[in-house]
Amino acid sequence: MTAPRTGVVGAGYVGLTTAVCLAERHDTVCVDVDAVRVRELSRGVALLDEPGLPELLEQGLAAGRLRFSADYSDLADRDVVFVCVPTPSRPDGSADLSAVDAAVDSLAEVLRPGAVLAMKSTVPVGTTRRAAQRLAGTGIRAVSNPEFLRESHAVYDFRNPDRIVVGADDADAANLLEQVYGRGSGPVLRMTPESAELAKYASNAFLAVKISYINSLARLCPEVGADIGDVTRCMGADVRIGQHFLRPGPGWGGSCLPKDTAALLHTGRLRNVELREVASACETNAAHADQLAAALTRAMGVPLAAARVTALGLTFKAGTSDVRDSPALTVCAQLSRRGAQVCGYDPRLASLDQTALRRASVVGVDDPYLAAKDADAIVVLTEWPEFCELDWARIAEQAPGAVVVDTRNLLDPAGPTEAGLIHLGNGTPSGY
Ligand code: UDX
Repeated sequence: MTAPRTGVVGAGYVGLTTAVCLAERHDTVCVDVDAVRVRELSRGVALLDEPGLPELLEQGLAAGRLRFSADYSDLADRDVVFVCVPTPSRPDGSADLSAVDAAVDSLAEVLRPGAVLAMKSTVPVGTTRRAAQRLAGTGIRAVSNPEFLRESHAVYDFRNPDRIVVGADDADAANLLEQVYGRGSGPVLRMTPESAELAKYASNAFLAVKISYINSLARLCPEVGADIGDVTRCMGADVRIGQHFLRPGPGWGGSCLPKDTAALLHTGRLRNVELREVASACETNAAHADQLAAALTRAMGVPLAAARVTALGLTFKAGTSDVRDSPALTVCAQLSRRGAQVCGYDPRLASLDQTALRRASVVGVDDPYLAAKDADAIVVLTEWPEFCELDWARIAEQAPGAVVVDTRNLLDPAGPTEAGLIHLGNGTPSGY
């Protein structure tokens, strides 16, 4: 067979990254229902600030190997099409599959017999088999191919996967998918669709549990005079634990971990299987904003209702402009609810979702020194490296005697301390 022709449905984080990376080797068509997004991408406007993505978009368009369309019929000649549409949380934690079903039904209308639909969206166990039922009679095969991309590392992670998971009953369909990725692109793990779907949720939920455990240990450290940095350095040296995802913070967030932990818990509830480790991680994660508010009140010596608080960092993690389910905004909203006046600075402020900031009652100030003016407390909530370059003497002029709470243990405590500010780390002997 000639090189398989590939398609992608959904030009969001996962879909656009998948499309531009596939186009390095395959003729690729990416369909999105948003005509404006299609037009911008066709003009070479990357829309996402993912490192490496703009260059790959330009390369794919220039080589004529990458096209964008709002019309599903442009996928008619594709051999493999990756479904990369959102599966947002419903109030009960279950995943909303309306976009997935719409994509499957649209592909059923246009793909040829023998084509493969690869489900890359994170979907509840059984969804791929359900898609196969919706495709019955069309000759189109459905396989599960979950992604493990991290925001701000999406292109790198696509090119350097720890594993490529293929959940398929049909060996020929699995072979075709492997051919798309090509030899040497990473270890391919073949399994049933159910195992592939569950493995994705299980992986993300484990990452959440790992972080929640570290954040709980960080609460214990100041009580016993230990330092979370030293404790995790020791833990991480054990290859069975690994040194990643051991950094304390204001809690975990983003567009995936909260959604995926909720969906996994829902799957368990449906089958009367309690995943208490995951439920507990979610509960402790939700408590951090309150704990931080109480710690600030103790440290400032004034009630929050009379306090001005400056948040440094509003995104859910550094290297992205994404504020979806951002723990930083959760903290800001909690402080505001208790009456504090909260203003926030973020290196990406101009490109953040301003509605989300308003919902969290945060006033965005596009200069860290202005944002610190008259602050009673300054809280580092996102681990932007820029914050390590701040002039703390200059900040102290704006906010004399302010409390500086570093939830990410990003700063050298000497900076704020030598400027006469009160530095509190997270999980350090003198921490909050
Ligand atoms: C995550 C998974 O890592 C990825 O494999 C999956 O495909 C999508 O979900 P992402 O949402 O981009 O990726 O964020 P991630 O880098 O995992 O961070 C999630 C949250 O955990 C962030 O709020 C981050 O600040 C926090 N975190 C991460 C910590 O608090 N401590 C850590 O050590 C690591």
